[in-house]
Amino acid sequence: MSIEKKIEELRKKKEEAKLGGGEKRIQKQHEKGKLTARERIDKLLDKGTFVELDMFALHHCTDFGMEKKRFLGDGVVTGYGRVNGRLVYVFSQDFTVFGGSLGWKFAEKICKVMDLAMQNGAPVIGLNDSGGARIQEGVVSLGGYAEIFFRNVMSSGVVPQISAIMGPCAGGAVYSPAMTDFIIMTKDSSHMFITGPEVIKTVTGERVTFDELGGAMTHNTKSGVAHFAAENEEQCIEFVKKLLSYLPSSNREKPPRVQTGDDPKRMDEVLNSIVPDSSKRPYDMKKIITSIVDNGEFLEVHMHWAKNIIVGFARLDGYTVGVVANQPKFLAGTLDINSSTKAARFVRFCDAFNIPLLTFVDVPGFLPGTAQEYGGIIRNGAKLLYAFCEANVPKITVITRKAYGGAYDVMCSKHIRADINYAWPSTELAVMGPEGAVNIVFRKEIEAAEDPEKKAHELVTEYKEKFANPYIAAERGYVDDIIEPKETRPRIIDALHTLLNKIEDRPVKKHGNIPL
Ligand code: HXC
Repeated sequence: MSIEKKIEELRKKKEEAKLGGGEKRIQKQHEKGKLTARERIDKLLDKGTFVELDMFALHHCTDFGMEKKRFLGDGVVTGYGRVNGRLVYVFSQDFTVFGGSLGWKFAEKICKVMDLAMQNGAPVIGLNDSGGARIQEGVVSLGGYAEIFFRNVMSSGVVPQISAIMGPCAGGAVYSPAMTDFIIMTKDSSHMFITGPEVIKTVTGERVTFDELGGAMTHNTKSGVAHFAAENEEQCIEFVKKLLSYLPSSNREKPPRVQTGDDPKRMDEVLNSIVPDSSKRPYDMKKIITSIVDNGEFLEVHMHWAKNIIVGFARLDGYTVGVVANQPKFLAGTLDINSSTKAARFVRFCDAFNIPLLTFVDVPGFLPGTAQEYGGIIRNGAKLLYAFCEANVPKITVITRKAYGGAYDVMCSKHIRADINYAWPSTELAVMGPEGAVNIVFRKEIEAAEDPEKKAHELVTEYKEKFANPYIAAERGYVDDIIEPKETRPRIIDALHTLLNKIEDRPVKKHGNIPL
């Protein structure tokens, strides 16, 4: 064969590979309102940067007539490219080939890009749309999954791993995304579950739809499995890109600094009156965050779940920070099981990837109740305490109002090694709230008084005067300064600059034992 013919043959084969499972199946994918695996990659990566690997891969299964059904690439498109100029590795499951189901070769292709990403220090982006283990390949496909799971764990804390769920993701297959750092689900077209509606109906008698069971909003509001809900595939990919912009490519780097154009010395008078006079009245902590960070841009993570705590990424003078903040608007900003778990995982992510932590505190304590106690608030609240203690990235804390009880310690207090702690004049810092404290300490006096109600009121007022201020903590050095709310941005940016080269060692160990 002449070289021209050989080149012609190569071109033909590449065109064939690009069609995946064929035009009919591509049309079916489009009819469902879904993009194909390659169209998704095109949208994700900078134009012309995709380099595909293993385009000619084929499975070697001969059972169930599979030897006659072989598609170039075997149902997953893998390779590398650039997002805003930065290297990423990507795999995109192709539903048009055996429903995107995973066999041995398919798994090997994913493992290859995961290994390269680890070696070269770049994020892995998984675009998931799959019927799960390829049934015809049996246990071999289960082995393939496990090879991926192992690499998810080896990569954890080394390179960022992001999962976009754009179709089905069921059975044990969900555990690969679950072990990545962030899951983004598309509304109306994605679902994740361990066992589907039919199995559930047989085993427990419950009737539930696919969407109710494992749709985007179920996992964004109820289970906390997913971190973001996208309206459609375009928005899903935008989330991936935005997220990447805040992150370093690996734990060997710091996140990229961005010229945001926002004046680091900018102050905001509004902050001086944002905390209500009555400490029982709620306010929106998000307004404080967006007032302080560069250009008010805040990428909130887990926006729909455990709303009593806010976590997300922002920039200060162009440097990425991870923000953790109690939200007085929900459950009065108390810490409960879900909010503790949510924030703990976020804190650990930031610590693993050299992202400084900025914590805003307004916490009346842990949420009381049997549901919380039986659900293990002790074990779960300990996760957040553990995560903040363990983190040795720069840690800056601002108390805006309440910092009561154990929750004061937990929320990145000085004692668990925050570097800079500021308090607003509205700070109330004590072992517990005034009413509860007075009832415990002065119960006998109140009962013996001529007018118990009046006595209790007097004692509450006295308690408030004593503790409902930041000066005792400042006297001790537990807060480094009491600042005017309006000057928070310049003060924390200044602190951040001093902490950029922070080194704080931890004892050498194999790993700690976080209370799971
Ligand atoms: C092989 C599969 C497949 C699978 C789908 N297909 N899933 N082939 N193995 N797991 C094929 C179909 O035969 C069909 O082929 C094509 O993909 C499209 O599937 P349809 O059913 O026509 O599509 P749709 O109606 O959109 O339904 C999609 C689906 C459904 C919901 C994903 O296919 C489905 O329920 N599949 C099985 C899901 C499942 O139970 N997987 C195992 C999960 S357990 P043709 O040739 O007709 O186009 C698991 C364990 C992992 O994954 C364990 C890891 C440790």
